[in-house]
Amino acid sequence: MRIYETKDYDSLSRKAANIIAAKVISNPECVLGLATGSTPIGTYKRLVEMYNDGDLSFKNVKSVNLDEYKSLSPEHDQSYRYFMQTNLFNHVDIKPENTNVPNGLAENAEEECKRYNDVIKSMGGVDIQLLGLGHNGHIGFNEPADYFPLDTHLVDLTESTIKANKRFFASEDEVPRQAFTMGIRTIMQAKSILVIASGKDKAEIVCKAFSGPVTPNVPASILQLHPDVTLVCDKEAMSLLKETGVEIISL
Ligand code: GLP
Repeated sequence: MRIYETKDYDSLSRKAANIIAAKVISNPECVLGLATGSTPIGTYKRLVEMYNDGDLSFKNVKSVNLDEYKSLSPEHDQSYRYFMQTNLFNHVDIKPENTNVPNGLAENAEEECKRYNDVIKSMGGVDIQLLGLGHNGHIGFNEPADYFPLDTHLVDLTESTIKANKRFFASEDEVPRQAFTMGIRTIMQAKSILVIASGKDKAEIVCKAFSGPVTPNVPASILQLHPDVTLVCDKEAMSLLKETGVEIISL
């Protein structure tokens, strides 16, 4: 595992964008696993800048997103499809038919999960998977549990996730209670993984996930077993993991 500490959020975003750009440049037909949440916004902004500068093209790139709220339409301004359109897809040359997000409006959840698993398989898997971290260690929407869910599935969101995400909605009541998410096996099958975390409120979970025991109670802890993980954190998010003495590359 490579661990980078950056001086602030802006520098974290540039580092993460550089890592993704390097993948796209070395393999213009790569499959990007993409994430939502507030942390990757700066990364996407930087990728758009690189595209505008003529340094990057997504023309032959395919993408597959981690998750989507159940019952939100792609046009809903809090759906993850909408997030991806407004933060990245609308601003670069990725082909709309090459972008994939679970369908929040699918009537049959089981069929939608199967369809999404098949989409990922048909692409030959993910080359680089971007991940943020939930405060409880969730990745995608794989919540703490007593087992690691394998493939795409429908989850009941935990109270802590609903509370953390209510800032994006008019009220807590409007936060969907369920979501589709890629499973842990699919995430672990990505050829490489890039985890980003920013801010003091992520310091505890970063430390637990990357230096604590591997347990489904902290879903992100499984990443310790992946052979190609890069963790990029700003100083604040890194503060507690740093105290454990792990080897860190400071930027
Ligand atoms: C959501 C998403 C996750 C994301 C997490 C952290 O619950 N499903 O994929 O990593 O939030 O979000 P943030 O980056 O806003 O802290």
